Amino acid sequence: MIKHFFPRFNIFFVFSFYIFNILWFNVGLSGVIIYWLLRVGFLSENFYENPAVGISILLFISTIIGLIVTRVAGKLMLNPICEMLASMKKLAGGDFNVRIGNSGLLRPKELRDFSEEFNAMAKELGSIEILRSDFVNNFSHEFKTPIVSLRGFAKLLKKGNLSNDERQEYLDIIISESDRLAALATNVLNLSKIENRTSFSGHSLFNLSEQIRRTILITELKWSEKRLELEVDIKEDIYFLGNPELLSQVWVNLLDNAVKFSYQSGKLRIRLLNYNDCVVFKVEDFGCGMDEEIKAHIFDKFYQGDRSRSTEGNGLGMTVVKKIVSLHKGEILVESRPSQGTIVTITLPKQANEKQKPLL
Ligand SMILES: Nc1ncnc2c1ncn2[C@@H]1O[C@H](COP(=O)(O)OP(=O)(O)OP(=O)(O)O)[C@@H](O)[C@H]1O
Ligand SMILES: [Mg+2]
Repeated sequence: MIKHFFPRFNIFFVFSFYIFNILWFNVGLSGVIIYWLLRVGFLSENFYENPAVGISILLFISTIIGLIVTRVAGKLMLNPICEMLASMKKLAGGDFNVRIGNSGLLRPKELRDFSEEFNAMAKELGSIEILRSDFVNNFSHEFKTPIVSLRGFAKLLKKGNLSNDERQEYLDIIISESDRLAALATNVLNLSKIENRTSFSGHSLFNLSEQIRRTILITELKWSEKRLELEVDIKEDIYFLGNPELLSQVWVNLLDNAVKFSYQSGKLRIRLLNYNDCVVFKVEDFGCGMDEEIKAHIFDKFYQGDRSRSTEGNGLGMTVVKKIVSLHKGEILVESRPSQGTIVTITLPKQANEKQKPLL
């Protein structure tokens, strides 16, 4: 409150203020002390008649007072800087909870600004550190689980005396766990490539409809295994200016989820709509759906609605989707009801020069 009554002094003002006060204090206090020594009779009234004595007494008193005043003023002036140096050392040593105090009326504006910036930086570094350690923990866990099971089943196979069915079952587990590892490596690699980007290179005008049709074909093994009926509505060839490699991951991940969370013999509806200023991709499944809690976290890294983690995957697919869509300045909408199904809608804005089909 009191801070508001004082202007924000800059460093030159504060420095001059201290020097002025040291001089003023020194002269003033020396005068007061000499006056007092005269009053108590310690000095005779005509002590200044002998200049050597007068000057020596003045010099002595000024030196003592000067030492005390400069010591106090120096401490006041340099304390914030020492505090900053100590805080920097702590930060460099990995203590991200360190903060610099900002109180003190005569703390110059520059030092206050520095403290604020320093505190903001320490806070930001702290949150990055939390994210990083969460990521490392999750990644190690995701990485270790399939390796442990691969080793376990490989050991069982080595022992021999297994029936043919058992052997087949263990081999299937080994194949699916290695698939999980390969998918984890791909997703983490993709994520690390795009995570800190705010823009991307590799734009080209490509046939989006064709890309989605191809993705449906690539995932055929999965949806035909589940006997899903597909309703595909991609009428025209839509050309879009974007990064085809990144966008293809979006369709693969969304279709993968739609198939994975569908019930056996269910239905999938895939639509691609062309508007003047955007293209809209919709994938609808009639599977297990999500409650509000799951929906709120689907874009978090390594989040899987199935806490037992018995569902395939590592919980990175939707994180990758969201990042790629936002790199294309698009939007993603997830509508879902438990046991009824999910609709994911991706809207990608068109850029001016793509409204025309290329002469290919
Ligand atoms: N279509 C869907 N229907 C029901 N739940 C879904 C759907 N899509 C995503 N989810 C929920 O969101 C979670 C996160 O999805 P995400 O794609 O990121 O991970 P994942 O599919 O479990 O693993 P990964 O994509 O890495 O293989 C899923 O585990 C699931 O609980
Ligand atoms: Mg997924």
